[in-house]
Amino acid sequence: MKNTEFDFESVIKRKGTNSLKWDLFGDDVPMWVADMDFKVAPAIEKAILRRAAHPVYGYTVVPDNLFDAYIGWWDRRYDFKMSHDDMAYSIGVMQSISSMIRCLTDVGDNILIQTPVYHVFFYVIEDNDRKVLENQLIYENGEYRIDFDDLDEKLSESKMMILCNPHNPIGKIWSKNDLNRIGKLCKKHDVILISDEIHCDLTDPGVKYNPFQYLDDVITCLSPSKSFNIAGFQSSIVHTKNSELLDRIKNQMHVDNSDSCNVFATSAVIAAYNESEEWLEELKEVIYENKLTVNDYLAEELPIVKLVECDATYLLWLDCSALKVPSKVLSEFLRTNQGLFLSAGIDFGENGDNFLRMNIACPPKLLKEGLARLKAGITALNIIKNQF
Ligand SMILES: Cc1ncc(COP(=O)(O)O)c(C=O)c1O
Repeated sequence: MKNTEFDFESVIKRKGTNSLKWDLFGDDVPMWVADMDFKVAPAIEKAILRRAAHPVYGYTVVPDNLFDAYIGWWDRRYDFKMSHDDMAYSIGVMQSISSMIRCLTDVGDNILIQTPVYHVFFYVIEDNDRKVLENQLIYENGEYRIDFDDLDEKLSESKMMILCNPHNPIGKIWSKNDLNRIGKLCKKHDVILISDEIHCDLTDPGVKYNPFQYLDDVITCLSPSKSFNIAGFQSSIVHTKNSELLDRIKNQMHVDNSDSCNVFATSAVIAAYNESEEWLEELKEVIYENKLTVNDYLAEELPIVKLVECDATYLLWLDCSALKVPSKVLSEFLRTNQGLFLSAGIDFGENGDNFLRMNIACPPKLLKEGLARLKAGITALNIIKNQF
């Protein structure tokens, strides 16, 4: 039965709150950056208000019960056992990855990513003067899979691999078999493996992701920021059973000043993992319903655009190849013509150019508005194209 305390229906005005999604460009219907247009779980709101009521906001230590909250969540939900000794606090997944690149690889080293993938993976590698090596995912019959021969070859020239599980933007949960094969290949070529699992809780109802726990050396990045829509608090952890690697990472994060804790983050994270599971389960239903809405809408109203099947994340990957328009042009056209902002597929790698990424973590009313604008924009684009 639905908990009436949770509101996933109301459209909350976010313009004017310094929201990256709503205020940076001023589009009417922003469906790009990965945050949600829902109110947080009531327990999180209460915890923040409780902490805010104490009017001193000085430096904060990371308390043991924050790590306990992570340990409990992964044990309860994923049967993944963690211990304090194997964890380090960080202000964000990308901050951690940047620090790990600096302390575990050298300038000029190759770092492997599987494209199309979260665009910031490219920047974090290049900004640290390392080189991107792409293991392009194979797209066939509307589905993605890993090219393991290519992975084997490219890992032999790489120092590090950054895995995304579930994978942004294609929304795929990598199978245990895939993870095992990746793990074995990384071991074979002595490659440091980072597994970014930030989207792990946002799966279709009844579906679970597989934590990467097959190798002691794997480094996992975990955070409640996507699952509970608290990215603005900037909080995450790094987990590895390899104590030598963990010491090096902790040192680097200290040098980078990315290991200190925001005064509100602690309250938010603990309330999320310890008290907001019911909210998350209902959120997953809402996102799944939204996904079905998009699927049906495209099939009936806009069959030229195909939804790539996925089982995780609230980011949908729309195959627009039949339109034969570069994704940047398409994305820009939808913005100028319709005030609708979807991410251009090329941002996630050259092999993403036939796609748009659509964030559907919003109330159904807003989603329907977005879909109507998508149809109007694509219809207008096709009319314009046909004039030439
Ligand atoms: C795969 C992935 N990793 C990391 C991040 C960002 O994490 P953080 O805000 O903790 O740096 C995102 C945000 O969209 C993401 O999709």
